[in-house]
Amino acid sequence: MGNGPSGTEPLRIVVTGGAGRLGRSVVAGLRAAGHAVLSADRESGGGEPSVAVDLLDPEAARRTFADFGADAVIHLAAIAVPFSAPERTIWTTNTALAFTVLEAAVQAEVGRVVVASSPTVYGYNAPGGWVPERFPLDEDVPPRPWNAYAASKLAHEQLVATFARQHGDRVRFAAFRPCYVIAPEEWAGALTQQGHTVRARLDDPALSAAALFNYVDARDVADFLERLLERLPVITNGETFLVGAEDALAREPLAELLPRFHPGTAAVAAGLTGTEPAFTSAKAAQLLGWRPTRRWRSELVDHDHLAGGHGPGDHDLQVPAGGAAR
Ligand SMILES: NC(=O)c1ccc[n+]([C@@H]2O[C@H](COP(=O)([O-])OP(=O)(O)OC[C@H]3O[C@@H](n4cnc5c(N)ncnc54)[C@H](O)[C@@H]3O)[C@@H](O)[C@H]2O)c1
Repeated sequence: MGNGPSGTEPLRIVVTGGAGRLGRSVVAGLRAAGHAVLSADRESGGGEPSVAVDLLDPEAARRTFADFGADAVIHLAAIAVPFSAPERTIWTTNTALAFTVLEAAVQAEVGRVVVASSPTVYGYNAPGGWVPERFPLDEDVPPRPWNAYAASKLAHEQLVATFARQHGDRVRFAAFRPCYVIAPEEWAGALTQQGHTVRARLDDPALSAAALFNYVDARDVADFLERLLERLPVITNGETFLVGAEDALAREPLAELLPRFHPGTAAVAAGLTGTEPAFTSAKAAQLLGWRPTRRWRSELVDHDHLAGGHGPGDHDLQVPAGGAAR
């Protein structure tokens, strides 16, 4: 159960929350890349092998990692939607889950541990207003969480840094902030996390404005995590990475859209022209050599074109600013 092999050799990886929206793609992607992956979740849905476990139970968590002989743990299990439970419940559940999983991983002699944070740590939509010091947002822009979910995610990052200081001689840690996750079936019309389709989010910018028009394909996150696990032994311990698509989930430039929904941001958003997103994953590109490969313009399934006999890869959904695709 010692540290995993370095380089591109197969690892034994436990994905917590492997049955979830993001977890299913992460599990599938890592398995397709040749790793042995165990989904550990309260629910079923992470494929086989999987284990049904409440990861708030410290001994159950430790046993899960130790019995599988895990080289790596990717921690996704959480209450994943702000205000989807009482604030106190979100805070206590998410922070307890993160601490329990990190502690259990160290006890089980796991060598690489990655924890999911969130871009909500930046604090957009704060009731008192929000203007960041710059766009695009990067990992050096100071976090200003304003709800229990975002605060719990900042705590995840702080726990990762804390564990890195305490155990960094033998365990490698990192945190990542995935943008609004689009699972593969959601390109074809399944509902996204907030209960709208991707197309509805494009048609009504107010829906996507709440997340600053950010998104990332879940399969790109899986690719990111594979690259991160591979590079963990050689990068600085305890780093945090933003993980987002290279364009915005919008049909208009964010220099025009952001000030409409986030008063006071016109000056800082002025440089976001063309399809540029509000978040940059440049750090991941620089330190890991990872870049996302999926964009909504090529992934969104165009039912009208499909009905006309065209494949999903040959449509062009670029429309004039403000125009509806169809
Ligand atoms: N989906 C997004 O857009 C997004 C964006 C940023 C960050 N994140 C983070 O990524 C992670 C995954 O998000 P998701 O959208 O897949 O969420 P999800 O709700 O679909 O999946 C979370 C999974 O965790 C499991 N879980 C919760 N508590 C558990 C427990 N005590 N023991 C075992 N399993 C437990 C749930 O059963 C569920 O399958 C979360 O940490 C979330 O905060 C998600």
